[in-house]
Amino acid sequence: MLLSTVLLGFVPGTALASAIDSRQATGSITVNLAQTYQTMDGFGTSEAFQRAVTIKRLSETEQRKTLDLLFSRDKGAGLSILRNGIGSSPDMSDDHMVSIQPKNPGGPAAEPKYTWDSSDNGQLWVSTEAVHTYGVRTIYANAWSAPGYMKTNGNDANGGSLCGVSGATCSSGDWKQAYANYLVQYIKYYAAANISVTHLGFLNEPDLTTSYASMRSSGAQAADFIKILRPTLDKNNLTSIIINCCDTMGWSVMNTMLGQMRSVESMLGTATGHSYTSTATSTLSTKLKSWMTEAGDNEGAWTSAWYSNGGAGEGMTWANNIYTAVTSANVSAYLYWIGAQDRSSNTNSKLIRVVNKAVEPSKRLWAMGNWSRFVRPGAVRVGASGSGVRTSAFRNVDGAVAVQVINSGSEKPVTITTSGAGFVAAKAEAWVTDNTRDCNSIAASVDASGKVTGSVPARSMVTFVLRPAAAGK
Ligand SMILES: *[C@@H]1O[C@H](CO)[C@@H](O)[C@H](O)[C@H]1NC(C)=O
Ligand SMILES: *[C@@H]1O[C@H](CO)[C@@H](O)[C@H](O)[C@H]1NC(C)=O
Ligand SMILES: *[C@@H]1O[C@H](CO)[C@@H](O)[C@H](O)[C@H]1NC(C)=O
Ligand SMILES: *[C@@H]1O[C@H](CO)[C@@H](O)[C@H](O)[C@H]1NC(C)=O
Repeated sequence: MLLSTVLLGFVPGTALASAIDSRQATGSITVNLAQTYQTMDGFGTSEAFQRAVTIKRLSETEQRKTLDLLFSRDKGAGLSILRNGIGSSPDMSDDHMVSIQPKNPGGPAAEPKYTWDSSDNGQLWVSTEAVHTYGVRTIYANAWSAPGYMKTNGNDANGGSLCGVSGATCSSGDWKQAYANYLVQYIKYYAAANISVTHLGFLNEPDLTTSYASMRSSGAQAADFIKILRPTLDKNNLTSIIINCCDTMGWSVMNTMLGQMRSVESMLGTATGHSYTSTATSTLSTKLKSWMTEAGDNEGAWTSAWYSNGGAGEGMTWANNIYTAVTSANVSAYLYWIGAQDRSSNTNSKLIRVVNKAVEPSKRLWAMGNWSRFVRPGAVRVGASGSGVRTSAFRNVDGAVAVQVINSGSEKPVTITTSGAGFVAAKAEAWVTDNTRDCNSIAASVDASGKVTGSVPARSMVTFVLRPAAAGK
């Protein structure tokens, strides 16, 4: 939209350009559209554990501000995936997510006694906004645990396993089918509210026992359940639902679980892992899509800085974390833990905090946004290389090519040349994010051969968007 002014803003050979050139050699970035990698599903976050409830309590103005920051492509990060928690708790005390069947119906074969409060711990509201106001298409429904009465320890918290998977026998019987039916019912409640759940997970951090909803599982035990879940979904005409597994605490743990799940890999859709005990720095050994479904600086004191000293909560750190996961770990999606939170906790576990009703985004949100807004669902990562900067590139469904450049050194002029797929850049735009600028438009020009020239300021992330002549956008 700012195209015409941007295009001519930077003319190589002007005093400014030559001043820059004399300080540092030009970095050449080459983008090869003929070399293709993973297809992206997007970037996202969660309002689970009643974070949605606390946001819903704000005034309408503050609610809108929060939702805009999360999902709007003009006013916010333009996140494209929402991860919801499927409740397993008997009540909503503290931050419990209440179950759709809080009480044992009388055994695994008994007639189910589901209840629906049309709130789902506030998440139906966030989902409705995400989907119908902002056009989000990917809803990941993820259970942290089965309800307690389906588990070996009789509690939805404190670990325990699903009764009926290998090595987990219970006097109450085998609950695998009942748990599969329960998850199907949850999806049906959402469908009745006109929200299509697209991805379903039945485990969260199965390698960890905690005092909140948690359920242990090995890969073999997860496979036992998937053998029941997939046909149950299919029988209910939910063939398009993609099963995600297993949201392990550490990324590398997912490899161990996958090793025990080869027999059900064809029933699975996405291999999912978190970035706590190990981060997403290498590929999982699977042909399935991989998603990094939870990361956060959950202990660090709140910061909204882009860059100060490379701390774990800073925006530039997250821009780099995402870069590594996308380029080295082959992820098709990257999700931060909590989106917005209005609860007393002064850590970086969320992207946006609300204090005394004041909505405050961090630069972590904008780091997510600088990826999410430009790398849209369906974009295919393509070859990109450059010296002295970290770079990646994607071809979007609309034909535009987005090139990310992260520069942790001093200001660097760059050129971008593309090859492959018959792509010739005819228009170029660039946006910079650093300590003082908030995705400000900066100069980028393109010559008759399609070569793009621009500059990447010190300690910044710049996204170039290249469009072919025919796209007309
Ligand atoms: C359901 O959602 C779709 C968009 O996803 C919308 O076009 C349609 O009007 C909605 N239907 C109802 C009954 O709200
Ligand atoms: C699934 O769809 C078929 C064909 O539309 C229909 O006959 C059947 O009743 C549906 N089954 C369920 C469980 O909704
Ligand atoms: C990357 O992920 C895709 C699925 O999205 C898979 O087909 C491909 O084999 C993976 N590549 C590597 C190197 O693991
Ligand atoms: C990029 O980050 C800056 C803050 O550093 C933010 O103001 C800007 O809106 C972000 N851009 C996008 C597209 O999210």
